[in-house]
Amino acid sequence: MQLDIEFLRGLFPALDGPPGSDWGFFDNAGGTHMARPVLRRITHYLSSHRVQPYGPNLLAGPAGLEMDRGRETLAGLLGVDSSAVTIGPSTTQNLNTLAHAMSSVVGPGDEIIVSRQDHEANIGCWERLCRSRGATLRFWEVESESGELEAGGLDDLLNSRTRLVAVTHSSNIVGTVHDLGPIADAAHAVGALLVADGVSYAPHRWPEISPTGADVYCFSLYKTFGPHLGAMVVAESVLDRIAPQSHYFNARRSWSRLDASGPDHCAIASLAGLADFFDAVFDHHFPTEAAAGTTPDGRAAAVGRMLHAHETAVATPLLDFLAGRAGNGLRLIGRHTMAEREANFSFAVAGRSSASLVEELARRGVATKHGHFYARRLLEAIGVGDVDDGVVRLSLAAYNTHREVGHLIDALDEILD
Ligand SMILES: Cc1ncc(COP(=O)(O)O)c(C=O)c1O
Repeated sequence: MQLDIEFLRGLFPALDGPPGSDWGFFDNAGGTHMARPVLRRITHYLSSHRVQPYGPNLLAGPAGLEMDRGRETLAGLLGVDSSAVTIGPSTTQNLNTLAHAMSSVVGPGDEIIVSRQDHEANIGCWERLCRSRGATLRFWEVESESGELEAGGLDDLLNSRTRLVAVTHSSNIVGTVHDLGPIADAAHAVGALLVADGVSYAPHRWPEISPTGADVYCFSLYKTFGPHLGAMVVAESVLDRIAPQSHYFNARRSWSRLDASGPDHCAIASLAGLADFFDAVFDHHFPTEAAAGTTPDGRAAAVGRMLHAHETAVATPLLDFLAGRAGNGLRLIGRHTMAEREANFSFAVAGRSSASLVEELARRGVATKHGHFYARRLLEAIGVGDVDDGVVRLSLAAYNTHREVGHLIDALDEILD
């Protein structure tokens, strides 16, 4: 099914853009625009009943119901039980809380494996846990030129002392999608857990979590057209073993065991808007199936596949352009084709600062960013000279168009010449 791009763009008020401007937004890996139905739910919650939720009074009752609906809706879209879903203010916070909770299962002599390719959110918390528990942190290294995870690197590290493997589903710099199934199997074979960071993957393809085999799967909803929250799906067997981080009297509810903070109520309520968004796109593109009815996760997956196909088609000429320039002073990180790759393209140009390239792009109506994007250890490992200046990152979302990419390629052509 071909995406009706005008219909999709109509669901994002931010794309109306500054009047009369011809600009393109290519910093989607930093956070996508919010879908109109999510925004609508936020406005409704704030303007109708932003009070302490739950209870019999006329305002608290609906507020609590809307929060419950938001939680249930998210779980439904992911095809998991809502008892497995922790909602926190961000993925960094969720992983940090998880690492604290894991202090009950990690002790002296144990080992944790992290990947050098990961965002710091899925490294630092495990490093701190190892330090405090007398455990050892081991790195799954990357290839120094491509930044890809070393083939066979994990097998060399796994052993009977390994308690946990933490790895990204796809890196926010390199873009290669990892097949998590075999990684989960290898971890489970030695009795270790797999914690997968889906933050960079989920914006490009709505996650189908169960086939990954991950015991914990995290992603950030503000990068999937939603509010600024992190979602963490944790297997019941893990929730039962770890030390709750909630108030003790809330620990009996499994979904609140890792809720250390009670994130923004209105954002939680607005999660119901994500289903409104997927339903609107689904009903528009699949009217026959819509009439027949499908499950929420089935609709989200079908929409996710269609959006991903569109994004891949739009991204391909950009990757071809960058790949064509690679080697002539331009270093393109990651694969040069879209096979098993997400549309996050990172590059550096010899003799030019990434900051100056981003400024020049901004002058030509292209919004993007540069830096290490908190994958600092990766950039150090692959020898990016000035890590703070880092790489230029061009990241797409499903609402980007062929026209915008054409404009971006023209701008790059001019700047690089
Ligand atoms: C791959 C990856 N993991 C984790 C994070 C952290 O997510 P959050 O901003 O929700 O803490 C990010 C944020 O950009 C990311 O790109």
